[in-house]
Amino acid sequence: MLKLPGLIDPHVHVREPGQTHKEDWDTVTQSALAGGVTMILAMPNTKPPIFDEATLNLALASAHSKARCDYAQFLGAGPENAAEAARLAPRAAGLKMYLDSTFGELRLDDMTIWLEHFRQWPGPAPMVVHAESRSMAAALAFSQLFNQPIHIAHISLKEEILLIRAAKERGVRVTCEVAPHHLLLTAPARADGRLEVRPRLASQADVDALWQNLAVIDCFATDHAPHTAAEKDGENPPPGFPGLETMLPLLLTAVSESRLTLDDLIEKSVTNPRKIFGLPEQPETWVEVDETARWEIHAADLHSRCGWTPFDGWKVTGQVQKVVLRGKTVCENGKILAQPGYGRNVRAG
Ligand code: DOR
Ligand code: ZN
Repeated sequence: MLKLPGLIDPHVHVREPGQTHKEDWDTVTQSALAGGVTMILAMPNTKPPIFDEATLNLALASAHSKARCDYAQFLGAGPENAAEAARLAPRAAGLKMYLDSTFGELRLDDMTIWLEHFRQWPGPAPMVVHAESRSMAAALAFSQLFNQPIHIAHISLKEEILLIRAAKERGVRVTCEVAPHHLLLTAPARADGRLEVRPRLASQADVDALWQNLAVIDCFATDHAPHTAAEKDGENPPPGFPGLETMLPLLLTAVSESRLTLDDLIEKSVTNPRKIFGLPEQPETWVEVDETARWEIHAADLHSRCGWTPFDGWKVTGQVQKVVLRGKTVCENGKILAQPGYGRNVRAG
């Protein structure tokens, strides 16, 4: 039996408020605990998006009554909320800025809006940017011009990891994360609604570059983005994969294959996210893992409401047996024992 600290996932789409047929604060935190994740940072592209005090309170009220693991909520950078976001910063996980297209309506094309946010965001939590390829290069320029630390979400391309490496070598205040799916899957030969995700799945050369530059990657993050199987198989498949329950087994499998060390796993899924986002320690919190258990991922066993996973049928090595959060056993043999509302807002002050 292997004992790990509770994982922190800095990139989770909860879907509440507004799209609880996909997921809500209850099901997403069940999914987290089943995956050995004891703290999640929630993205702001909900309906409505989290842009101001009223919407922040709306999300936090649902979380307060339903969450079974600890959490904090991101604010979204919008066209007119730079001052309001700065004022709310202490209550938020951080500020999320969408510079590229994805699910929801949060993309900011106008760079004068980026300017306002880079000028006003007070920290200490970083600005998190969804910025791919050339927009990533632009975000790095903004970070330097305004001496503002940025965290780059879900990198996927060789050119991105090489640019971040160069930026770090020159002292730019940049950190980044990678999602398991960008480390393990490549773009399908034919369009497949299930495999639609932003950033898109990339080439084998991109995947290889990520593995070769693992030392440059600060965090693992699921980008848990649940959409129902029916939506994924429909006319206009929305981009995104669930990931909370599969991240740890997939990473433990990489450890068993000597592609990753256990120290790397802990550093990138606990120590670094805690440091980057200024998150508190969770006392008496751990995950017990049978590191030799070989098992098959089945969508039907998952707790997420979305009902599918791109890793269905994958054989993995390493299984969560038990999760203890703040002294209480919250998950055992796949059964969730924490009650809704047990989770705490780590930015409650
Ligand atoms: O594939 C994605 N889905 N990428 C994102 O950045 C957002 C997400 C979502 O909210 O569905
Ligand atoms: Zn995302």
